[in-house]
Amino acid sequence: MIELAKRAAKEAGTYLLGSLGKALHIEKKEGQETNIVTQIDKGAEEIIIGMIRKEHPDHSFLAEESGGDKQVSDYLWVIDPLDGTVNFAHGMRLFSVSIALLYRGNIVLGVVYDPCADELFSAERGKGAFLDGKPLHVSKADRLIDSLLVTGFPYAIKENPNNAVEHFVNFLYEARGIRRLGSAAIDLAYVAAGRLDAFWEVWLHPWDQAAGILLVEEAGGKVSNFTGDPMTIYNKDILATNTLIHDQMIEVLKRGTNQRVTIVGK
Ligand code: IPD
Ligand code: CA
Ligand code: CA
Repeated sequence: MIELAKRAAKEAGTYLLGSLGKALHIEKKEGQETNIVTQIDKGAEEIIIGMIRKEHPDHSFLAEESGGDKQVSDYLWVIDPLDGTVNFAHGMRLFSVSIALLYRGNIVLGVVYDPCADELFSAERGKGAFLDGKPLHVSKADRLIDSLLVTGFPYAIKENPNNAVEHFVNFLYEARGIRRLGSAAIDLAYVAAGRLDAFWEVWLHPWDQAAGILLVEEAGGKVSNFTGDPMTIYNKDILATNTLIHDQMIEVLKRGTNQRVTIVGK
């Protein structure tokens, strides 16, 4: 099934790359001004589900654009056909396809494909994480001040969910730097690859994080919620690190929970 996931991610990624720069039909989701979807997101999702369903007609799906199906199977495919839609819509060459498979609620495989860099990140539970077949390991940074962090912001940032703004400000003072790439799946893949030392974000969806969680864990990293409790794909806060700086990150996150900045315009 990992080979099927890789083939589907590559097929969808090739479609995304071929559609870059073409006229887009942009819709706004759930009445939110910044949360957009294009016909290309939907097209990529159809490709992936079509390929998987052909081989496994009895499996269930949870996919961003079509939601969950009614089928109840031990196998659940969790799919983000285009992670980084805002980048994509602006012609920014940083987006990905994310596919995970859960068996009875446990993530057993995950694939993240970055078509612009032609990089395929993959992991199977208990078998390690790989980039184009080469083993991946998280970084060795053991101090926050020597670490390069990555994060993202939810579309509902004006509501400042889970004190997302305060956490960002606090980490600015504590780390070597922070990046905001625009694709949570790539953020997690880069932590697995040791390019970045840690990732945190609030209000992600299962399809943003399912594959990336397994990549980080299988590369020797640690994934939890903001208080250090075990992670599920349905959690609304995620902390993924190289393990070494996990507790230092939790200390900073604790601080942010008790603060509140005034958001202009609210
Ligand atoms: C988004 C990206 C982004 C993250 C947002 C996600 P989408 O996914 O992963 O990095 O900050 O919270 O919703 O909408 O491009 O699939
Ligand atoms: Ca996403
Ligand atoms: Ca998406």
